[in-house]
Amino acid sequence: MGRVIYLVGIVIEGHTYKHDIFELVRVFFPDSDMEIVFLENKDITDANGYIVESILNYNGMKYIGIARLYRGGELIGEHCESIEDIHIGNLDMGQRIKTGIKKSIYNLLVRIFEIDVPWGILTGIRPVKIVHNLIDLDMEEYEILRILITQYRIHRTKAKLILDIAKLQRKYIYPLSKDRYSIYIGIPFCPTRCVYCSFPAYRIGKNYDMVKAYVDTLLYEIDKMGKIMKGKLLNTIYIGGGTPTAINIFDLERIIDGIFKSFPMGEVREFTVEAGRPDTINIEVLSMLREHGVNRISINPQTMNDSTLKLIGRNHDKYSTISAYSLAKDVGFDIINMDIILGLPGESIDELENTLHAIEEMNPENLTVHTLSLKRGSRLLMEQGNRILNKRVDVQHMIERTQMFAEDNGYLPYYLYRQKQILGNLENVGYSKLNKECIFNIAMMEEKETVIGMGLGAVSKIYYPQENRIKRIPNFKDLVQYNMRIDELIDKKKGSIPK
Ligand SMILES: C[S@@+](CC[C@H](N)C(=O)[O-])C[C@H]1O[C@@H](n2cnc3c(N)ncnc32)[C@H](O)[C@@H]1O
Ligand code: SF4
Repeated sequence: MGRVIYLVGIVIEGHTYKHDIFELVRVFFPDSDMEIVFLENKDITDANGYIVESILNYNGMKYIGIARLYRGGELIGEHCESIEDIHIGNLDMGQRIKTGIKKSIYNLLVRIFEIDVPWGILTGIRPVKIVHNLIDLDMEEYEILRILITQYRIHRTKAKLILDIAKLQRKYIYPLSKDRYSIYIGIPFCPTRCVYCSFPAYRIGKNYDMVKAYVDTLLYEIDKMGKIMKGKLLNTIYIGGGTPTAINIFDLERIIDGIFKSFPMGEVREFTVEAGRPDTINIEVLSMLREHGVNRISINPQTMNDSTLKLIGRNHDKYSTISAYSLAKDVGFDIINMDIILGLPGESIDELENTLHAIEEMNPENLTVHTLSLKRGSRLLMEQGNRILNKRVDVQHMIERTQMFAEDNGYLPYYLYRQKQILGNLENVGYSKLNKECIFNIAMMEEKETVIGMGLGAVSKIYYPQENRIKRIPNFKDLVQYNMRIDELIDKKKGSIPK
């Protein structure tokens, strides 16, 4: 017999906040046997399905957000939220209405399903930005916490976490400047493909010509963008992927030489290269990076359990991580980051203890803790689906354990972001030893500095300080399109840079 899919219908009346409501409803119906769809009206046909109805009502005096839940056609709960009662910083009327509507749905569904929702009504990727906006309004800390907890319904621990992060970031963000910028360069190639991955990353097989052609186009883009950014101040450089160290050392060196030729290097505060997969690291490539002034690299274990590493399709074991780390320290890298993922198949708190123990021994300057996200297009979602999603409680516990570990080992949280389809609707947190924070990650996350993205799928974010807004310009994610239409991308970026 095939799998039974239950329908969760959303019916909206009087407003258009579809996207936000979809994301919020999804928090309460995470299983992949629930299909969430928008419906024109609430006349349900599925006896086991749910309907969430969201209405914005204006009675001539004030706006009210009304949420109702139906099961099998029968009303099982209702919640009303007055928009008058939403007072958050300088939100305009539209933002207040959106917040009130989300609160009406949240309050109703929390009461009925009794689910723990640590991030309350927040569905966005960058919750720290909200705190920066409140600090910019000169609010006291206690007032910011009150808003996060009572208005956005965020758990106290998460509210404190994002307040601490925002405070630590401010020295890297301010003063704002329209002339300061960072660059990101994407290398979309990997030795093998990890089962959870949905990034545009091509496996380097026998056909190395594909890489050669890519590097040629990339160097062309670097040269042109360098000319366009002339006279502005380069702050940080990040070469990511994929796995930059998976390509031939000469090609990687060509790219770095291209950066030196095209961009002003005098004021660069940080130069990161992801050497993500330990199986791509050797003394030659590390020395070459050091000689070119790279001062931060990533060596990503993901887990320090060999059986999981096999299961997720990584071509290395825990010892290759340990030896790559010690080699990188010998070569003289000051800041090494390690990425780990919580909630990988077959892992619970015991496996995490094992990973943390090994990381404690190495003592990297940065540790980035990801919560597994089951992305569309990943092999893992197709093969394991719900079996993994059932681990939300476990994963919350693992997050708390990594927070304790960080505290005990002298790490401070310095950036945070959330993703769609993340287990338990949780978060990713970057930790750092004091003053070793990755400035690029902060710029990318808080969106108060221009980032010029170059290479396949790279996203440029052009910042306009006077309007406090960014314009996103993504490069093509398809290799053929990228190679063929590079001039289009360059022109688009050129036309958006503020004079
Ligand atoms: C853009 S990836 C690139 C890093 C590098 N290619 C590697 O895998 O070592 C950055 C990090 O995101 C995390 N990541 C990738 N896919 C993920 C997923 N589906 N769920 C959670 N974290 C993920 C991994 O920790 C990875 O190191
Ligand atoms: S190494 Fe990183 S980018 Fe490459 S397949 Fe694995 S997760 Fe994706």
